[in-house]
Amino acid sequence: MKNQHRREFLKHSGKWTLAAVALNAGVSNLFANTTNATSTANASTTSTIKSKGLAAFDNSGILRPFEFFRRALSDNDILIDIKFASICHSDIHQIKGDWGAQQYPQVPGHEIVGIVAKVGAKVKGFKVGDRVGVGCMCDNFKLHSAPNSLKGGEQYDKDTLFTYGFKDLREPSGISQGGYSSNIVVNAHFAVKIPANLRFEEAAPLLCAGVTTYSPLMKYNIKKGDKVGVAGIGGLGHLAVKLAVSKGAKVYAFTTTSLKSADIKGFGASEVIVVKDALKDTSALNAYKGSLDYMISTIPAAFDVGAYAACVKPFGTFTQVGMPPKFEVSLSNLALSQSRVNYTASLIGDMKETQDVINYCAAHNIRPQIEIIKANSVNSAWQNVLNKQARYRYVIDSGSI
Ligand SMILES: NC(=O)c1ccc[n+]([C@@H]2O[C@H](COP(=O)([O-])OP(=O)(O)OC[C@H]3O[C@@H](n4cnc5c(N)ncnc54)[C@H](OP(=O)(O)O)[C@@H]3O)[C@@H](O)[C@H]2O)c1
Repeated sequence: MKNQHRREFLKHSGKWTLAAVALNAGVSNLFANTTNATSTANASTTSTIKSKGLAAFDNSGILRPFEFFRRALSDNDILIDIKFASICHSDIHQIKGDWGAQQYPQVPGHEIVGIVAKVGAKVKGFKVGDRVGVGCMCDNFKLHSAPNSLKGGEQYDKDTLFTYGFKDLREPSGISQGGYSSNIVVNAHFAVKIPANLRFEEAAPLLCAGVTTYSPLMKYNIKKGDKVGVAGIGGLGHLAVKLAVSKGAKVYAFTTTSLKSADIKGFGASEVIVVKDALKDTSALNAYKGSLDYMISTIPAAFDVGAYAACVKPFGTFTQVGMPPKFEVSLSNLALSQSRVNYTASLIGDMKETQDVINYCAAHNIRPQIEIIKANSVNSAWQNVLNKQARYRYVIDSGSI
C-alpha cells in the first residue's frame, strides 16, 4: 500500500509544471525508487485547514474566488498566514497551459510571505509569529523519514514537491495549491526567514524572481567591472539589473519597451538598448557583438537566441531563465558556434540560495519595484504582465482575498 500511495503521489499524469523541468530527468526513476515510501501519508491526526484563494477553473487565465481545504499539519510542517503574494509570469504560463494540461481548480502563487501561525511537533527553527517566505518548493518526501537528508539542490531532487499544481494526494484537492490565498501549509525546510528590515511586500518577489536571477549571477561569479547583459526587463529582469549592479558590474539592459528606459537607468544600468523585435528585428544588438562577459535572458517567448548570445565574448556564458511555452527555445547552432558562447539554463535556486538572496537584499538595500494590488485586480494585472506593462512586480495584498 505504501508504494502504491507514493506512486500515486508522485505521478504527474504527463502534466508539465515548472517543477517538471527539474524532475523530468528523474521521472523514469520515480516508480523504481520507493524505499523512502509514505512516512507522512498518515502522519497527521489533526483536521484539514480551511483556506480561501483565487483559483483558475480552466485555462482562460481568469481567476475567481475559491474556498478550499489544505492538508492537515504534519509534524515537520508550518502553517503560514499569508500577508502578500506576488505575480510571477510562471503563474500565467502554467495556469494557461503553456507548459501542458493542468488540473483545476488551481490556485497559483509561489512568491509568498506571511507569519507562522502554527508549527508541527518536530519543527525546529521556526515558531509562531515568525516572518517567513515560501517560494517554488513546498515539500520533499525524503525529509519525512530523514529530516537532514537534503543538503542543497532541492530544485533538482526528484522527490521535491512544487508549490502549486503538483500532484499531492494529501491535499483534499489532490494537488498543491499556491499562495494567492489566505494561508498555506509547507514543510518547514522550504520556508525562509524574512529579516525585520525587509518589508513583507518587498520580500515577496525575491522568493522566485530574486533567487532565479541571483543564483546564476553568483554561479558565474559576477563581480566588479564585469560587463553583464540582461534581456527582458520585467519582474526577473529588473532584479537581475539591480543585483548585478550591486556586485559592481556594468549592466547593459536589453528591452523591447522603450518606455522602460528611464526606469532601467534608475535601477543602475549603464546602458539601455531598445530592441525593436526580439525575434524579427534584433539589429540593435549588432553593435554589442562579442562585448559582454555574461548575459542573462528572462524573455518568456520565442526570440532570436543566437543574436542575443552573440553579444557575449567568446567562451563567455549566456543563461536563459525565461521559460517560453512548452519550455521551447530554438537556436541556431551556427550562431552559437560562431560566437562560441556557452549556452546555459537555470532553474530557480535552492533553499540556501533563497535565504541568501533575502539576506543579501536586506543587507544591501536592494528592493524590487512593486505595485500592491487587491485581489479584484489580479485578472487585469495578469493582462498587464502579458502586455509588458507591469512595473515591475505586482504584489497581492492577501487581506483582500
Ligand atoms: N528558470 C526559472 O527557474 C524561472 C523562474 C521564474 C520565472 N521564470 C520564467 O522567466 C520568465 C520571465 O518571468 P517574469 O516574471 O520576469 O516575466 P515578466 O515580468 O513578464 O518579464 C518578462 C519580460 O520579458 C520581455 N518580454 C516579454 N514578452 C516578450 C516577447 N514576446 N519578446 C521579447 N521580450 C519579451 C519584457 O521585457 P521588456 O519590456 O524589457 O522587453 C517582459 O517584461 C517567464 O518565462 C517565467 O516563467 C523562470
